[in-house]
Amino acid sequence: MKFELLPFALSCLTAFIKAESWKFNVVSIKGPSYDIGLKYNNEVLKMEPSEFPLFTTTIESGSSNNYKYVLLDKDGNVVEEEENERTYTSETSSINEVYNRENKVVDIPPLPKVYDPLFKSGTNKYQEYDDSEIYTLYADCIESEYNDLKYGPFVNNEKTANCTVNFITRTETYQRNATLELIGYDSRKYKKLSWKFKLSKKIFGRKTLKFRAGANEPTLMRDKLSVELYKSVGVPTYSSAYSRVIINDDVYGLYNIVDTLGTNWLSSIIHGNEKAHTGTSYKTYAGASLEYLGETQKDYSIGSYKLDEIDEDDPEANGNNYYRLAHFAKTYANWIDQYQNDQSQAAVDALENFFNLESLLRQMVIESLTFAFDDFWANSGNYALYYNPEQSKYQIIPYDFDGTFHGSKSSKRFDKDYLENPENCINWADHARVNEDNYFVGALLNHDIIRNRYNVIMKDTIDRVFNVDSISPLIENIRNLIEVDVVWNFGLIDELDNEIPGYVNHYTHEDFIGNINYDRVKYNPSVNRNSADFGLKQWIKTRSEECQTYAVNAINGEYNNKTTTTSISTTAATATTTTTTTTTTTTTTTTTTTSKSNNTNTDTPTSTSSITTSTIKKYIPTSTVPSRCGPEYGACAREGQCCSKYNYCGTSDAHCGAGCQSEFGICNNNNTTTTTKKTTTTTTTTKKTTTTTTTKKTSTTSRKIPTSTVSSRCGPEYGACAREGQCCSKYNYCGTSDAHCGTGCQSEFGICNNNNTTTTTKKTTTTTTTKKTTTTTTKKTSTTSKKIPTSTVSSRCGPEYGACALEGQCCSKYNYCGTSDAHCGTGCQSEFGICNNKPTTTTTKKTTTTTKKTTTTKKTTTTTKKTTTTTKKTTTTTKKTTTTKKTSTTSKKIPTSTVSSRCGPEYGACAREGQCCSKYNYCGTSDAHCGTGCQPAYGLCN
Ligand SMILES: *[C@@H]1O[C@H](CO)[C@@H](O)[C@H](O)[C@H]1NC(C)=O
Ligand SMILES: *[C@@H]1O[C@H](CO)[C@@H](O)[C@H](O)[C@H]1NC(C)=O
Ligand SMILES: *[C@@H]1O[C@H](CO)[C@@H](O)[C@H](O)[C@H]1NC(C)=O
Ligand SMILES: *[C@@H]1O[C@H](CO)[C@@H](O)[C@H](O)[C@H]1NC(C)=O
Ligand SMILES: *[C@@H]1O[C@H](CO)[C@@H](O)[C@H](O)[C@H]1NC(C)=O
Repeated sequence: MKFELLPFALSCLTAFIKAESWKFNVVSIKGPSYDIGLKYNNEVLKMEPSEFPLFTTTIESGSSNNYKYVLLDKDGNVVEEEENERTYTSETSSINEVYNRENKVVDIPPLPKVYDPLFKSGTNKYQEYDDSEIYTLYADCIESEYNDLKYGPFVNNEKTANCTVNFITRTETYQRNATLELIGYDSRKYKKLSWKFKLSKKIFGRKTLKFRAGANEPTLMRDKLSVELYKSVGVPTYSSAYSRVIINDDVYGLYNIVDTLGTNWLSSIIHGNEKAHTGTSYKTYAGASLEYLGETQKDYSIGSYKLDEIDEDDPEANGNNYYRLAHFAKTYANWIDQYQNDQSQAAVDALENFFNLESLLRQMVIESLTFAFDDFWANSGNYALYYNPEQSKYQIIPYDFDGTFHGSKSSKRFDKDYLENPENCINWADHARVNEDNYFVGALLNHDIIRNRYNVIMKDTIDRVFNVDSISPLIENIRNLIEVDVVWNFGLIDELDNEIPGYVNHYTHEDFIGNINYDRVKYNPSVNRNSADFGLKQWIKTRSEECQTYAVNAINGEYNNKTTTTSISTTAATATTTTTTTTTTTTTTTTTTTSKSNNTNTDTPTSTSSITTSTIKKYIPTSTVPSRCGPEYGACAREGQCCSKYNYCGTSDAHCGAGCQSEFGICNNNNTTTTTKKTTTTTTTTKKTTTTTTTKKTSTTSRKIPTSTVSSRCGPEYGACAREGQCCSKYNYCGTSDAHCGTGCQSEFGICNNNNTTTTTKKTTTTTTTKKTTTTTTKKTSTTSKKIPTSTVSSRCGPEYGACALEGQCCSKYNYCGTSDAHCGTGCQSEFGICNNKPTTTTTKKTTTTTKKTTTTKKTTTTTKKTTTTTKKTTTTTKKTTTTKKTSTTSKKIPTSTVSSRCGPEYGACAREGQCCSKYNYCGTSDAHCGTGCQPAYGLCN
């Protein structure tokens, strides 16, 4: 009987030692003159600066799970504390949190693939940087050496400084000795300098860490987007992620961390083996025309070429470091001599014998589409010439893409009408190079086969990736990752050591948001050195439409009489096809195993990792917006992700812990098992009438809109601005500037500058649902006989939409369907669904009339013009007199989208006339928008 006492004794013991050791790791984003403290149970504990800027501490846990980090001065006084409370979880000890930053990992999925990669793309040891997190780098450099660099970026351009470097990732810390150098030429003109560290020992297989400042543009995305575009067409270039940079006391801000194209990169990315024999490589600066100038270095020493990597074992070079450059230039010159008047395949074959033509043509397409005015084609620089000993061929490798997505910047190097003339897509850089040099590219494009291949690549690239639909998700994901750090970064420039010479830009959060979308940042010399003439999406839209016209015409022989069959040899020149399958009803079973990350500490089983197996039957549509979820988006698209209270998908604690929305993904704490099986087949045929009416806007729009609970945010997803007197911008931010209160200002969610007399053109789209079949297999056959029409808009309900289409859903006060407390609790609208889990058998007689003001509208003529690249199509002239009356129950009003370029069930109809709504819910006029999958309910279709 003795043994029976044992379990009892153990449980007593467990209760007694319930206090656990909790470990905290946090990265400071301030200089070394500050420390970090842990605020727990209202006490502040100074943390240990283990490897600055990483601070750690361990405490015995108490009753509360909540804590915060605070900023301390050197006397230990609290200077500032974090805005948000944190919650300790089993994950906390194993990650490096960042002061004043959410624990965020944003998966950045690659762009759609146009072609398979031409080269190997990495090894186990040398992988692309992880762009789902933001790294932090701190360098402690010898002050005098570092001062020489920062105060004399041009004077002391060959100098270096000795440093120790701490490089911190989400889970690791690396400490190295390193030498610091300045990089770039133009980038030295800016106060926020660009840097390179040569390390004593590799990090991530790299001997060098390179940090590009992107000081000249307001998005910090241009370089990264170009990198992803090259990847999409299979052209090798550096990988790129984001990092914060602090050197000594200088907090520089957010940078792109990129690879250098040295031996380690070449062996791993080009040859797929870190032990591969690599060849000689040259870096180039403007003026590297590739003309043959002689055999040795002195012939080429005009500042355009620099030997980067030398192959000491090159059997042909005989110790001449410039042999490979000279050899290539000479071979190319000979090729021109022999084949310039030869349009046959033999000319192409001869070139491909010694040169990787396919790689360059793909690169040229991206350069034309992004208007890369500082790279190979337009500026004969920023590319490497590499002799690939494995293939015995030369190749060109692009790098440094900050001069992209800007257009011509009115430079005389480019034609004035560059955006009006589709042929600009191939002749854009004819006069752009130093001395209008057109030697290399001119000789290439002289061949019809080569030119045709360029045209085909351009068309494939535009069809598959270079369009707003395909690139926007990437832009939005990067925004999600960097937005907070970008704003922090902008604010640092005036706090930076003001003896550092150089230009500054004072960009704002609005500049950032506007410029990743459709807004330019105007030239304003009192504030900024650099304007940005095109928003990223605006540029992509404009250029893709122009070049699609070019490519289609060119392929149809409009620009050249000869139609030659293309034959460029390549290992992977065929376009990859992606098949998208869309299923209406999803029954997903998610099994998630949450285990502690594999850290070095195997001896601390403080809390046995809980294995959560949650089975979720989703009858909620899957979100089509990357990383977004919640009542407005649907369930997280990826398996195993949690939907945070702010409607973002992810796996961190912030996503899966408090406020996690179990209807839209998994959650840490709750096993939600819903066993309702349901099959819904809906066939909807829609008829559309578009009428443009000119209405007088009446001033008082008193709809009950909730006040936003998210700082500075407003709009359909957040509610009204919380502060008095603020305007809600078209991008859903609160503020008082013109950008907030002027064009696009949303009067429902704040005040606006508009005076009441302004006449606005409003688009009304009427959709008539003619047929609807719903097959439901449900356990509980609740007889819900509603006189209210069923909503045809996914997840929407309420006076404007009707009842929730799916059984068992509640209609929230904001007119969204769902099953959470937010939907079924306070404000739940029983006419349009169930409330508090009680089905509404009450047959509502109340036919809610929501038509606000009925204005007799003027006769208007809408002329819709749809232009496809080759043929002018359909000119529909709809003439209609509408005296708007309260219409019958079947007639439903689809709201006009308030989100720029977005449409579809979650956004409404395209705001602009004559636009189509693509299957991915973007507005536009291309075939991709108006062709297969086009949604007639939300815009035009072919
Ligand atoms: C910097 O490091 C180099 C070797 O890496 C060394 O030769 C030099 O003396 C160092 N300079 C200082 C000031 O420590
Ligand atoms: C840096 O160099 C010093 C002096 O050579 C050496 O003692 C130290 O261990 C090195 N640190 C690292 C992290 O390599
Ligand atoms: C085709 O060639 C003929 C004669 O060389 C020329 O007159 C004509 O303009 C060309 N057509 C196009 C579309 O370039
Ligand atoms: C942990 O490490 C083991 C062995 O290296 C590996 O099989 C497993 O996938 C790792 N788990 C995680 C979560 O990384
Ligand atoms: C778990 O469920 C309880 C009620 O069952 C609820 O109060 C709590 O908020 C839920 N937690 C999460 C993370 O969903």
